[in-house]
Amino acid sequence: MKVVAIINQKGGVGKTTTAINLSAQFAKEGLRTLAIDLDPQANMTVVLSGGQFKFETTISDVFEAAKKHSITKAIIPAQADGDNIANLSLCPTDIRLSRVIEQSLTKVHRERILFKQLQTIKDRYDVVILDCPPNLSLTSVNAMMAADLFLIPVDGGSFSLNGLADLLDALEEVKETDDVNFVVFRNEYAKANKLINNFLDEQLNELGDKVLKTKVPRIEAIGQASVSAEPLLTYKPSSVALNDYKALAKEIIARLNA
Ligand SMILES: Nc1ncnc2c1ncn2[C@@H]1O[C@H](COP(=O)(O)OP(=O)(O)OP(=O)(O)O)[C@@H](O)[C@H]1O
Ligand SMILES: [Mg+2]
Repeated sequence: MKVVAIINQKGGVGKTTTAINLSAQFAKEGLRTLAIDLDPQANMTVVLSGGQFKFETTISDVFEAAKKHSITKAIIPAQADGDNIANLSLCPTDIRLSRVIEQSLTKVHRERILFKQLQTIKDRYDVVILDCPPNLSLTSVNAMMAADLFLIPVDGGSFSLNGLADLLDALEEVKETDDVNFVVFRNEYAKANKLINNFLDEQLNELGDKVLKTKVPRIEAIGQASVSAEPLLTYKPSSVALNDYKALAKEIIARLNA
């Protein structure tokens, strides 16, 4: 089992959108995939549950009392349009997560709650995708502890790279190494924005092979699919952007196996 954390403390860069569509792609390729929502905004939860809001057990319960609520209790089959999505499971979240995490600050091993839970299910899944919140809270630190690879989306705005150095510092600190297994990719790429693309490419060049070749374009159907509570794969199977998610999945698998 390999764990990929989709992380960037900057908001709105496409973490959740990527988590949803990458999970769907891995599942389509036959990998037993678990998508875990670590953001109390619960956007991925709503989409991958086919529009549900209420769940018997969520990741909040696991963080609150792991002994009583193991992660297996929270995991449900992902759904789209009333049908289960083959090979794809979801661990939902809810709005209580922020408060629960605040209260965990006094727990010993509080940074390893998720890591320990994932150890108990490591034979059941091939890949786990973590959708992180837009901050470096204890929830994100749990994701950092658990992850084998960090996938950092960078959007197409002029401030896209602000905070990237801080994020990499935080990853190095938590992982206690200066050789963190991370990759960066461009999301919401728009070919026409030449000036900004040149600027970003130049900056990203410094990261060398940490920058993935795949660029996910800005495409309306990607946003529309999320509004309809579906991955792009089921919402619009003819979308050209599915090729980009396929390419992204391929590059990530190569990094995981490296
Ligand atoms: N490639 C894309 N093409 C078109 N729209 C996109 C694309 N990627 C993301 N979006 C849209 O951009 C918005 C922000 O995306 P998303 O919610 O995935 O970001 P996020 O990083 O998870 O945000 P947050 O930091 O709040 O968790 C959403 O409305 C989403 O539909
Ligand atoms: Mg998000």
